[in-house]
Amino acid sequence: MSELSLTVNGEKVTVAVEPRTSLADLVRENLNLTGTHLGCEQGVCGACTILVDGVPVRSCIGNATACDGASVRTIEDFDADPLMTELRAAFNAHHALQCGFCTPGMLVMARDIVLRLGEADEQRIRIELAGNLCRCTGYSGIVKAIRWVIVARQGARGELEQRPALPLGPAGSGHAKTGTDVSGATKATASSLRPDAELAARKPAPAPLGASGKKASAVRQSFLLDAPLPVVWQRFGEVPAMVRCIPGASLVSEAADGTYDIKMRIKMGPIGAEFAGTASQRRDDAMMAGVIHGAGRDTKSATLAEGELNYRLTAEGEGTRVDIEVSYLLSGALAQFARAGIVTHFIGAITAQFAANLGRSLSPEGAVGPIEDAGELRVAGSLGVALKAWLSELFRNPFRRG
Ligand code: FES
Ligand code: FES
Repeated sequence: MSELSLTVNGEKVTVAVEPRTSLADLVRENLNLTGTHLGCEQGVCGACTILVDGVPVRSCIGNATACDGASVRTIEDFDADPLMTELRAAFNAHHALQCGFCTPGMLVMARDIVLRLGEADEQRIRIELAGNLCRCTGYSGIVKAIRWVIVARQGARGELEQRPALPLGPAGSGHAKTGTDVSGATKATASSLRPDAELAARKPAPAPLGASGKKASAVRQSFLLDAPLPVVWQRFGEVPAMVRCIPGASLVSEAADGTYDIKMRIKMGPIGAEFAGTASQRRDDAMMAGVIHGAGRDTKSATLAEGELNYRLTAEGEGTRVDIEVSYLLSGALAQFARAGIVTHFIGAITAQFAANLGRSLSPEGAVGPIEDAGELRVAGSLGVALKAWLSELFRNPFRRG
């Protein structure tokens, strides 16, 4: 057991916990502060958001022993907080909650948004809230409620508890002891979601995936096409035709150097994104294999996406087996959605649609005309299905332990 001392909701607390105890378990199990909810317990849903040294962190992935000396505030500490009182009233007025499971985390995050930004339009609020998932409301009421409080408080800024811009750092890392207010880096905190000028200015580079030094994640899929190998191989070499089969993707232009400008529109939870970038392809005729590389940027969320599709074709009966490996890197506001569970569902849904479109384009009917509706709606539908499947798994038993 490890003994630690910290301040919780203004009171000094000394507790002995197992070294593996999470901060969420510390407040819920040891201190009986059950207003902090646990949804995913893997840092995705934001239900467990609390303040550590004044900054929102996801307590489910924070280690309790790392918070020795820190100052922790849970939702229970905001009963008499004037700003939280306004937010609660606004949430009520704008129907910003239904089951209320996400609400403690939402309110902690909402309070931080109002304090830190002062002014934020709907788009900015949605970006800042991207780390808090709600399965009930559709977010509209939540965003309206926060906007309502921001507008109402304009002109009364002097009354607010202002928090200076803070560097990111490990939650409860002991900085509180020295008076420095430092946040949890493990959470995609609101601070980390700020549009980054350097990020926004960076152009998507057609360099090999992982050239940035970051490790790419990969998902493998296979599917069968009812067309002979030479026909499928030829089709994989026709980038414009391939792009038309990718849900949400569209070809903007083709350059003389063999690269293509493409766009990809997606809708993910409360956020819509349109990635614009370039794609190129390398092929090995002898191996019947190739690599399609793409990189793009969504300017609204300052998110960079870079991906590679490695494919290999083999004859199977009279048809063709397609084995693909999708590797991806995401940085910026939407990077938090790059969790294995979401991405596996997402790529599975996209691949199924891509395979269906490709199969249709290779059929005699598909050969006479373009694929229709391979655009945003299908992508949004896929993502909806993917996120829904993932969220329903996530919330099947929100109180599950261990
Ligand atoms: Fe902590 Fe989901 S982010 S429970
Ligand atoms: Fe947000 Fe139910 S009100 S999860």
